[in-house]
Amino acid sequence: MSDPEDHGELRSMTREQLVELGSRRDEVHVATSPRAPYPGTREARRAERSVALWFVLAMVLAVAFVACFVAWPHDYAAPGTPGYGLYAWNTPLLGITFGLCVLSLGIGVIRYQKRFFPEEIAVQQHRPGPSEPVDRATAVARFAEAAADTGLADRRLVRRTLLGGFGLAGLAAVVLPLGTLVRNPWREGDASQLWVTGWRSQAGEAVYLRQVRSDPLDVVRVRPEDLAPGAMVAVVPFRESERGNEGRLLAADRAADTPVMLIRLPQGTRFTPQPGREGFAYGEYVAFSRICTHLGCPASLYDTQNNVALCPCHQSAFAIAEGAKPVFGPATRALPQLPITVDADGWFVARGDFPEPVGPAFWEIRSR
Ligand code: FES
Repeated sequence: MSDPEDHGELRSMTREQLVELGSRRDEVHVATSPRAPYPGTREARRAERSVALWFVLAMVLAVAFVACFVAWPHDYAAPGTPGYGLYAWNTPLLGITFGLCVLSLGIGVIRYQKRFFPEEIAVQQHRPGPSEPVDRATAVARFAEAAADTGLADRRLVRRTLLGGFGLAGLAAVVLPLGTLVRNPWREGDASQLWVTGWRSQAGEAVYLRQVRSDPLDVVRVRPEDLAPGAMVAVVPFRESERGNEGRLLAADRAADTPVMLIRLPQGTRFTPQPGREGFAYGEYVAFSRICTHLGCPASLYDTQNNVALCPCHQSAFAIAEGAKPVFGPATRALPQLPITVDADGWFVARGDFPEPVGPAFWEIRSR
């Protein structure tokens, strides 16, 4: 067969002719052999159903993912409190359903390729240079041929379940970011989770500063004389009603938003609080959140000599004498300060919760 003379002749050629022409012009030699199951046989129909089953499974798992994301309890519940069991399963269920959904899609695609694609070996001599119109037309025909070779046009069941599986998996992937946009983190006003940490007093009970120990059940409160000038101690909240209650002590010790560093400023330090945080210190003692305002690592490497707290993750530095304002690194917000005082018995206590959310900034963050 000679090459066509003009575009009209090219347009009049069938897809198979164009593929054959393209292969010849590209000096591609193709060896194809048919593969069982052969079309129209019982075995082919059975193979088709088994492939479709994986796509149906992917659809079911995608729907399960969306249902878990929307309806499964996601509000934090501490270990040992009602609802903890359901809450603890929230993240694993999202991971399991979405992971298995993607896995089912992958298995379905691989099984389809193994059962229905023709076996083909193509060898081509490489020739550098720009493509000519005839090459482009034949290349397009080759892609169309490859699509036709998948056999999806004739296998309605597989085609529909494949589209359904990928479609619902795509929906699940879209629901995740969209869902986080429609949730209002401030819907409970002053009681919203972002406002409340374990430092908030309940029913007027005193909240003591308790040292972080290797044994979280070991309760050691802090007095001013426990710290030398320039010393820092890591503390978490403690209430007398928690004494002996293993679940509550562990929860207070492990909560992500309560870690605080209590610092006794080096002698001669002139402390300048952030605006609105006047009176939060107790003499030369100051308490700041240990959660970095960049991405939430523990920013509690305290450098006494320079009076800065360092975050080891991306090297943010917070000047303690200036109200823990960031002076280096990617953090842009000062570490939230905890208002503290000393009670009649000489123990450090919190005078209230943080006046702003702790940890990384987010687009709608605000202070009180
Ligand atoms: Fe602290 Fe990035 S998390 S600097």
